[in-house]
Amino acid sequence: MCLQADDMSTNCPPSRRAPVRPFQGGGRSAWRVLIAAALLLSAPARADPRAGAALARQGATGAPACMACHGARGEGQAAAGFPRLAGQPQAYLLKQLEDFASGQRKSPQMEPIARALGTRQRRDAAEYYASLPAWSAEAAPAAPPSPAGLGARLATRGNWDKGLPACFACHGRDGTGITPHFPALSGQPSAYTRAQLKAWQAGTRGNDPQGLMKSVADRMTDAEVDAVSLYLENPASGGRRP
Ligand code: HEC
Ligand code: HEC
Repeated sequence: MCLQADDMSTNCPPSRRAPVRPFQGGGRSAWRVLIAAALLLSAPARADPRAGAALARQGATGAPACMACHGARGEGQAAAGFPRLAGQPQAYLLKQLEDFASGQRKSPQMEPIARALGTRQRRDAAEYYASLPAWSAEAAPAAPPSPAGLGARLATRGNWDKGLPACFACHGRDGTGITPHFPALSGQPSAYTRAQLKAWQAGTRGNDPQGLMKSVADRMTDAEVDAVSLYLENPASGGRRP
């Protein structure tokens, strides 16, 4: 948004920018040097998705290949409950890797792996997985219908009697996530979703901003956790809308 006439941001069309006279009579070159310096200081080194792809395939010292657990295309492993990473928001993935590395998020598998990666590698891996195709209802494989009623209702409407908002209110239409901070839930192995909800209830996952997910999970019964986890694995299957 162009807030004011002297806003220098690129959001402001040049016609609305005030004429720039940083140094009266001081010439334009001084101004250019200042801008160049500011850009150099502020621009983080760009993440490299190709380096991320190599990490996924080959791993790094102390970190086995990501695809061994997260699948060749980042699709996760339903049977083992390993999460899908493909198409998740880059900032969300990076935050999780930073949280595993600092021990803020616990996981016997992921903590040592995230620690073995450098800051740069964590960024490359997040960039790579974010660039892979996200789950979509159209592309979802045919699956046995998920239980219609309860899971679908919680995901799309919540349960206002007990102050439980719809999952999709925060996680996006069809649960496909909202960048940068709300991950996709649709297409996640149900064992993974169930384990995360239980971890919030038990207090063993506590890295969510402002405790948003803790307050959601704490309001859920075991039956609700099971139903919504099953539904989210493939909302494109039966019982899509209650
Ligand atoms: C030995 C198996 C294994 C390997 C190898 C592995 N992961 Fe994981 N990863 C897991 C498990 C298990 C979880 C879920 C942890 C939990 O229960 O909270 C996970 C979770 C994650 C998450 C969080 C996902 C989410 O939705 O919150 C990210 C990001 C991640 N892994 C990235 C990577 C990257 C990048 C690599 C390769 C450098 C990698 N993983 C290698 C097992 C593995
Ligand atoms: C008020 C907003 C909000 C609502 C409503 C909400 N969530 Fe979340 N959820 C979040 C945020 C924020 C995160 C990311 C936490 C983090 O950064 O670690 C998250 C993360 C998750 C995760 C972890 C995903 C992963 O890949 O590890 C699961 C599972 C989840 N939510 C399930 C649900 C379910 C099921 C519901 C509905 C019953 C729901 N959420 C409703 C805000 C919300």
